[in-house]
Amino acid sequence: MKQKIVLAYSGGLDTSVSIKWLQEKFGADVITLTLNLGQRESFQEIEDRAYSTGAVKHYQLDVREEFIEGYVKPAIKANGMYQGKYPLATALGRPLIAAKLVEVAEKEGATAVAHGCTGKGNDQVRMDVTVRSLNPGLKVIAPVREWNMSRDVEMEYAKKHGIKIKASKSIFSTDQNLWGRSIESGPLEDPETEPPPEAFEWVQAPEKSPDTPGYLELGFAGGVPVSVDGKKMRDIELVKTISEFAGRYGYGIVDHIEDRLVGIKSREVYECPAALSIIEAHRDLEQLVLTRNELSFKASVEREWSWLVYSGLWMEPLRFALDSFIETTQVRVTGKVKLKFYKGAMRVVGRSSPNSLYRLKLSTYSKASTFDQSSAVGFIELWGLQSRTAANAIASMKPKPGAPSGKHTPRK
Ligand code: ARG
Repeated sequence: MKQKIVLAYSGGLDTSVSIKWLQEKFGADVITLTLNLGQRESFQEIEDRAYSTGAVKHYQLDVREEFIEGYVKPAIKANGMYQGKYPLATALGRPLIAAKLVEVAEKEGATAVAHGCTGKGNDQVRMDVTVRSLNPGLKVIAPVREWNMSRDVEMEYAKKHGIKIKASKSIFSTDQNLWGRSIESGPLEDPETEPPPEAFEWVQAPEKSPDTPGYLELGFAGGVPVSVDGKKMRDIELVKTISEFAGRYGYGIVDHIEDRLVGIKSREVYECPAALSIIEAHRDLEQLVLTRNELSFKASVEREWSWLVYSGLWMEPLRFALDSFIETTQVRVTGKVKLKFYKGAMRVVGRSSPNSLYRLKLSTYSKASTFDQSSAVGFIELWGLQSRTAANAIASMKPKPGAPSGKHTPRK
């Protein structure tokens, strides 16, 4: 019997060429799997291309709800953001794709799974680690990483094997799901160059966005958004509504230099209007309901969480432990946040919560204040005691510390 390989199939050049390559190299039956993660694409076209390229069977699964529930919501609660900039859209999608590859492979009795990641990025790490954590018996094949074909050679290979690829092939390398769209390569490889308008599909150029500001009120319950402008919405619709609204106002683009796991610095451009809006609103609400201690500790948890997810360690037990901590803080994160969008910018302009720790009686400068100012004096006395003592001690030292020693000259 022929061996079976389940390939994560996007319908693009790399994964289409991979179908043929896996057949030739392993004499295997290739089963393709395409997931609907909310990418704006035609799944019928993808299926047709899979069969016409030689897949023996094609799976198409709508995993949007599962993606939001199991991946996006934890990311919202964690304010998941790599290097403070990237809301992890692609990074969150990969472990789910890997999990579904394993599921289908087990169902089909396949011996291996395959994906179209190159050997230079983070995605290969996310896929390989997750698959092997879930089923150590499955082999993981990454044709693009193995074959080392250049894009031109790939095109030739495709032509030779009669693989049809969209003529309007973009100069950009992109990946998308409902949490965001990643854009790389082409003119973006020059970090000095502004991304051209053609790079964007979700976010309107601010120059063309409405001339008056737009407002959105997000309602949160237990740390996740549940309504827009007072209207309860299902998850998929909610993310879509916010994404389209913010995008129309020109908001949601990230342009930054990112540190990849493999040591490469790369220029990354993202469109993630919903993710940025929701996380900003969520952070603001947390600021209203959580204590200073909770916020400060949670910030370090968020950084660690984002790093684990970015670096492919979705299955790492520490991630689950961090999720448990985060979960306990989210119970009180309920309330409303009002966002104002205008010409590519967004800010929070109002918030409220039944669990708010804001007390007007304490913070007001009016005569309604109940804050006892006289107790501040004693507080300051003790609060600064040690720092003051140290500052005075340093001032009386001879010679004064703090001047550069000059010892750290590089060795010849
Ligand atoms: N740099 C981002 C990440 O590591 C985006 C990767 C985009 N992937 C792609 N196959 N185009 O998550």
